[in-house]
Amino acid sequence: MPLVTTTEMFKKAYEGGYAIGAFNVNNMEIVQGITEAAKEVNSPLILQVSAGARKYAKHVYLTKLVEAALEDTGLPIALHLDHGDSFEICKSCIDGGFTSVMIDGSHLSFEDNIALTRQVVQYAHDHGVVVEGELGRLAGIEDDVKVSAEDSSYTNPDQVEEFVKATGVDSLAIAIGTSHGAYKFKPGTKPQLRFDILEEVSRRLPGFPIVLHGASSVIPKYVDIINANGGKLKDAIGVPEDQLRQAARMAVCKINIDSDLRLAMTAGIRQTFNEDPALFDPRGYLKVGRQYIKDLVKDKIVNVLGSDNKV
Ligand code: G3H
Ligand code: 13P
Ligand code: ZN
Repeated sequence: MPLVTTTEMFKKAYEGGYAIGAFNVNNMEIVQGITEAAKEVNSPLILQVSAGARKYAKHVYLTKLVEAALEDTGLPIALHLDHGDSFEICKSCIDGGFTSVMIDGSHLSFEDNIALTRQVVQYAHDHGVVVEGELGRLAGIEDDVKVSAEDSSYTNPDQVEEFVKATGVDSLAIAIGTSHGAYKFKPGTKPQLRFDILEEVSRRLPGFPIVLHGASSVIPKYVDIINANGGKLKDAIGVPEDQLRQAARMAVCKINIDSDLRLAMTAGIRQTFNEDPALFDPRGYLKVGRQYIKDLVKDKIVNVLGSDNKV
């Protein structure tokens, strides 16, 4: 089966009250861990590539790895550009075989965000590719750009209809309190997403797929393994899984996960080194990292996203 767009996936997810996991990929072990997990539980998938991942691994290596995963699993997989920040990077990914791109104009004025997003949508749709836009600004770190909590802002529901209509986007990322990275909430505070905003956005955009970025749960099991094996992750806090389940039952059709993958892989590698300090075959520790990613993704799909057996 060739790569698919997210159109059919999102339609079924919206109607079925579940979400598709969008997992960031940077290398072979990550691709294998994610796709082997999805295969075992029969789930559609979005594999996403950031500008940083493209720089690290090169476009051609990542597309070939995803092609290999398609052949190996036979699953419906969409290949998505995560946080494209210019027309040029979106064009390059569209020309280079991606089936979905995000144009992230969330740092621009409303008018400039619309103009840039519309330009990408026109090119993408002419080439059979779908587009995710973003309104509202998440806190956290993306590609070395740190957005402070003060500079972040919730999505304004008053703007969403005009944005979607003027741009023609196929899905919309909104800010309801999630953030990128492993430090999402202040220690001692109760993590709480703004479901009132999500509800108001979906009331104004009936049937329209919403995307949640910064949706890792920062699972304590992996943080504890890292810290027990020489790591120093203090006060790492993620989005509670029950809130992600609730979002998936609502209009959220795509849930982005990167930090949890990083933590799982790092936990596997640190633990392996600690148990066997003489180890120097990279396969010895990478295979453990890959297995931890596989366990994590299977659990996400079955217990949080609800996309198992939806192929
Ligand atoms: O939203 C950002 C993703 O976690 C990608 O991170 O830009 O460091 O690859 P990256
Ligand atoms: P996390 O840092 O919460 O995994 O978010 C990833 C993300 O939103 C990628 O776009
Ligand atoms: Zn993101």
